[in-house]
Amino acid sequence: MRGFSKRAENIQPTGVRKMFDMAGDDVISFGLGEPDFQPPQVAIDAMYKAMNDGHNKYTTTAGLPELRNRIAETWKSLCPGLDESNVCMTMSGTNALLNIFATLVNPGDNVLLPEPYFPLYGPDVGLWGGEPKFYECLFENEFVPTIEHLESLVDDKTVAILFNFPSNPTGATITTEQRDALLEFAQRHDIWIITDEVYDRIVFDNEHVSFVGCDDQRVILINSFSKTYAMTGWRIGYILSANKDAMAQMIKVQYYITACSNDAMQYAVLTAINEADDYPDTMCAEFKARRDLICSRLNAMPGVECHVPEGAFYVFPRVDVPGMTSQEVAMELLRGGVLCSPGSAFGPSGEGHLRFAYTISRDDISLGMDKTEQVLKRLRGD
Ligand SMILES: Cc1ncc(COP(=O)(O)O)c(C=O)c1O
Repeated sequence: MRGFSKRAENIQPTGVRKMFDMAGDDVISFGLGEPDFQPPQVAIDAMYKAMNDGHNKYTTTAGLPELRNRIAETWKSLCPGLDESNVCMTMSGTNALLNIFATLVNPGDNVLLPEPYFPLYGPDVGLWGGEPKFYECLFENEFVPTIEHLESLVDDKTVAILFNFPSNPTGATITTEQRDALLEFAQRHDIWIITDEVYDRIVFDNEHVSFVGCDDQRVILINSFSKTYAMTGWRIGYILSANKDAMAQMIKVQYYITACSNDAMQYAVLTAINEADDYPDTMCAEFKARRDLICSRLNAMPGVECHVPEGAFYVFPRVDVPGMTSQEVAMELLRGGVLCSPGSAFGPSGEGHLRFAYTISRDDISLGMDKTEQVLKRLRGD
């Protein structure tokens, strides 16, 4: 038998998945990043209706023009010239990422990626022969990179920088001043900006700060309906850019990745945008209450310190248990009935942290925090 590609063999399962697979049913799970809500009922009904109406076929590669136009409209306040030609439907943000790297990266190129990171970024760049170069988003700097640090990494093989605000795993967001400094860095080095804004509708205290509309030729947006409408299992998202050449290339590549997105589902998403636009705000209000609860509990525990995240549904506290790695602490917590992710699963600077996804009820958060406190007290000897 012939073997497997180095590409496949080099890819490892993510640390988040490993913990999840080890957990029993009775644990309180702060593990996976998916909203514990149903998609809006109007969207479910619209999908059923669309299937009954015969929308069970291939669509054009970029997707339904009506939906793409509607999505373009939602970004027009930032970037007025957008229309359907600036949007390509994908089968999730995950699919969008793979497509964008396939389109921008040649073997030997490198891409600047955040660290701690959403674990798919590095392997995705590697699949196309590119080198991931990680820039640190440190606790000390509220998880936002410094320009000085980025300058130390960029070189003539750098083709793109990826930003992810609000961030998975840190929940960090940026101010417009920080966004402008990051934009200026990319412009100075003439590299693409890939902006993963899949949490743009889960932002708590301020308006979402986007890269869309900043530099029409340079910015490529990834977005997804997974988090916005609690549709993680549906697998639908999109790429948006004002750069028509970039869109043409990515739409061409999309054909080879999945041909097109799901026909009936695109009608359902259109209905969600048209008829349930306030749905993400309702979810967001609940996430905010949970964020406040979990942060106040964590910050009251000895050895634990966390920033109050401004977006997404993760908190990434620093957890000090002398002599133990974050993986060991997470394993002890799992034995104590709490599933969370070790910070090291998101890269080396995540060591010393844990990630809690607050995608469970407030009662479960309280119970999970009681257990976390007990385990940490025992481990630290407090
Ligand atoms: C930062 C970030 N980007 C992209 C994705 C991909 O989301 P999906 O593939 O469900 O659209 C996720 C999912 O957790 C994420 O956290």
